[in-house]
Amino acid sequence: MCGIVGVLGRHEAAPLLVEALKRLEYRGYDSAGIATVNDGVLDRRRAVGKLVNLSDLLVHEPLTGKAGIGHTRWATHGAPSVANAHPHRAGPVAVVHNGIIENFRELRADLADAGLHFETETDTETIALLVQHMLAKGMNHRDAAAAAIARLEGAFALALLFDGQDDLMIVARRGSPLAIGHGDGEVFVGSDAMALAPMTDRITYLEEGDWACLTRSSVEIRDGAGTLVNRPIKKVNIDLSQVEKGGYRHFMAKEIAEQPIVLGDALSHYLRGEGIEMPEPGLDFTEFDRMVMVACGTANYACVVAKYWFESLAGISVEVDIASEFRYREPPIPPRTLALFVSQSGETADTLAALRYCEGKAARVASVVNVTESSIARESDLVLPIRAGAEIGVASTKAFTCQLTVLFLLALKAAHDRGRLDAEELEARIAALRQVPGLMNIAMASSDEIAAVAKSVSEARDVLFLGRGAMFPLAMEGALKLKEISYIHAEGYASGELKHGPIALVDKTVPVIVMAPSDHLFDKTVSNMQEVMARGGKVLLITDAKGARAAGDGCWKTILMPEVDPLLAPILYALPAQLLAYHAAIAKGTDVDQPRNLAKSVTVE
Ligand code: F6R
Repeated sequence: MCGIVGVLGRHEAAPLLVEALKRLEYRGYDSAGIATVNDGVLDRRRAVGKLVNLSDLLVHEPLTGKAGIGHTRWATHGAPSVANAHPHRAGPVAVVHNGIIENFRELRADLADAGLHFETETDTETIALLVQHMLAKGMNHRDAAAAAIARLEGAFALALLFDGQDDLMIVARRGSPLAIGHGDGEVFVGSDAMALAPMTDRITYLEEGDWACLTRSSVEIRDGAGTLVNRPIKKVNIDLSQVEKGGYRHFMAKEIAEQPIVLGDALSHYLRGEGIEMPEPGLDFTEFDRMVMVACGTANYACVVAKYWFESLAGISVEVDIASEFRYREPPIPPRTLALFVSQSGETADTLAALRYCEGKAARVASVVNVTESSIARESDLVLPIRAGAEIGVASTKAFTCQLTVLFLLALKAAHDRGRLDAEELEARIAALRQVPGLMNIAMASSDEIAAVAKSVSEARDVLFLGRGAMFPLAMEGALKLKEISYIHAEGYASGELKHGPIALVDKTVPVIVMAPSDHLFDKTVSNMQEVMARGGKVLLITDAKGARAAGDGCWKTILMPEVDPLLAPILYALPAQLLAYHAAIAKGTDVDQPRNLAKSVTVE
């Protein structure tokens, strides 16, 4: 949700800013802009749409100067337009901002009373005007920024640049992440360390409420109370190949293909020696009577799959909720509850707020995250990394299957702790899980076949996905993948629920995609398929060879998956669901990696 960068460097800032913004474009691509100071003169360039439009503009209207800030926008207040694009400027102040200033209307009214003039509808412009207002009162830059930041309510990360100041940038973090990169006589700022990877690997993460005055030779960080604080410099290890397409046409294709490798990596991280090794301080599931699992979107579907695992394997009852509902419905959190949060980015605003709610109720808080430096990770008692590597495609793929893998391991641990799985059974379950990366490799071979069927699916207006048991949430995930990147309306239903309403949608124009390994529920799913086919519906069955034989004739198409432990089928069957969405999007010609209206990291509620 918006990416921000900043440079106080020894070289021209504009190319560095654009390069860094490329790595943040996954956070929003409604507009992009940069501002620089050159010999004391503050200037800016902004363009609507993707970063490439800004790059083109800079060819014709270059911007010089070795100090600069940049922004890639996911629109919140105000439509995507040049006027609403960042950096926003008020007199001598330019600002880039990620997040939302909740009290901006009230601040606008105050500033209007003071005679200041607004050019946009954005909340961000208010920040620049507020700082300008403080400067006009005679404050120095640091005090003016501090006074303005103190008046802001909401979640934000921001960077300020000033006319007349070639060697000063002021940054702040409240609710949205911000990393400071240390160079040799240079300093950098970014929404994440990945953006700064080509420039430096020495990073300081600002803590919640921190703000900092930066010059090329000094980094002065203060906490929310204004006290000077020391934040550690960490050496981060970012594999730059992860942020390149590596020969693939899209990041999504690369990330789908990477799954066998990253799942293997996640497994070897947790499966050392005999059993499952959890990070410190660990979890003992005999201490819990129930769990709540909270997440958004795809991560939420991972939680719903995991509910089936925790309940059936470990006999622990699990409540799953989407974070935006959970955080406001004031659910009671009885003692002996484990609160588990799942998030790829670790920055999703609703999930973070739900976590804080549970912390406020003294629950034990654990998180399953990809970005281990994220706010959710930092605020959890226990962090379980999924080790998926950087996920750039906006539609989550490898993070989902890695989340499932880690959650399955956690469910096995819970079952073992609670005496429901002896050492031998645990070993057998682990052995089955270890096979999944290899099975994924085999399943990948059906990509061409899926591409062919996806071409027909891409012509549909509506698509239904059906699944039973732990495949039901996967049906919802398959539908989400399809709608977000191909813009085809799709819904996922529990197979048994079809006749309670959705079957009214079925006719020959609506593909019904049934994801069903040959498990103990398979016959029931076949009956549901028959109900669809009896009404002229065309069924695409994704199953294994045994399932295909048992289903008999009548399906429109069948895609074969290798046989897998039915409990683990949601991990394996995620692959055909992802490939189907990917190929349907290719057939429709949509923007696979940056689908309209979406952003990767949802740091606003
Ligand atoms: C869908 C997708 C989103 C995210 C959701 C949560 O493909 O990626 O639904 O799963 O926005 O994001 P995280 O996992 O970063 O909390």
